[in-house]
Amino acid sequence: MTEVINEDGTSRRSFIATGTAAVALTAAGVGLAGAPLAEGETLPLTPQCTDGDDTPPVIEGPYFRRNSPLRTNLRTTGVSGVLLSLTGFVYDIRCRPLANVLLDFWQADQRGQYDNNTAAYRMRGHQFTDAQGRYTLETIVPKDYPGRTPHIHVKVQAPRGPVLTTQLYFPDDTRAYGMNVAALNRRDAYYVRDTVIKLGPLTGNRYQGTFDFVVRTA
Ligand SMILES: [Fe+2]
Repeated sequence: MTEVINEDGTSRRSFIATGTAAVALTAAGVGLAGAPLAEGETLPLTPQCTDGDDTPPVIEGPYFRRNSPLRTNLRTTGVSGVLLSLTGFVYDIRCRPLANVLLDFWQADQRGQYDNNTAAYRMRGHQFTDAQGRYTLETIVPKDYPGRTPHIHVKVQAPRGPVLTTQLYFPDDTRAYGMNVAALNRRDAYYVRDTVIKLGPLTGNRYQGTFDFVVRTA
C-alpha cells in the first residue's frame, strides 16, 4: 500500500478502506496510467481538459486535518451561507475520466473560519469519484479571511497516483457576504485563474458550479 500513501499520511485510511475496490478497478483497466477505458466508459471529453495540461498545485496552507469524514455534503449543523453545489470530473492527462479518485475538501465557513480542532470536522470531507469519474460537493461559498480571497482547498489522488494539493477560487463577480471578490482575487498572492470555479447565476441563495480536475496517475 505504500505507493498510495500521501507523504503526510492523508490518504492512508481512505485507500486501505477501499483497497478491494481499487484492485478491482485495476483489473478492469479503469483509471490507471496507460490503461484503456472499459467498455461503456466513452464519455465525451470536455473543453476544460487539454492533453498534457494538468491542474496546477496551490499551497496546502496551515489548516489541513487528516482523517476527514467520508461525505459529499459539508452543510452540517451550524453551517449557513450562500449555498454552492459543485460538480465535475477528474481526468487523467489524456482527458480520460478516472473512477475511484480520492478528493479531500476543506474550507472556511461563512465567517471565514476553519474548524481546526473539533470532532465535527466542520467544512471538511473526503469522497471518491464514481464510475464515470464524477464528484459532487454540497457546500457553501467560503468567506475570505485576512490575507486570503475565498477559496476551497482540496487534495486529489488517483489510485496509485501522486497527491495534487490545490485550491479552487471564485469568479470576480461572485456575490456573497458583501465580499469584493475581484479585489480579493487581485490581492491574493496564491490566486491563480487556472483553478477558478465556473459559476452559474446566483439563483435565490444558491450557486451551481463546476470544476474539472486533470491529474497525473503515476
Ligand atoms: Fe485556506
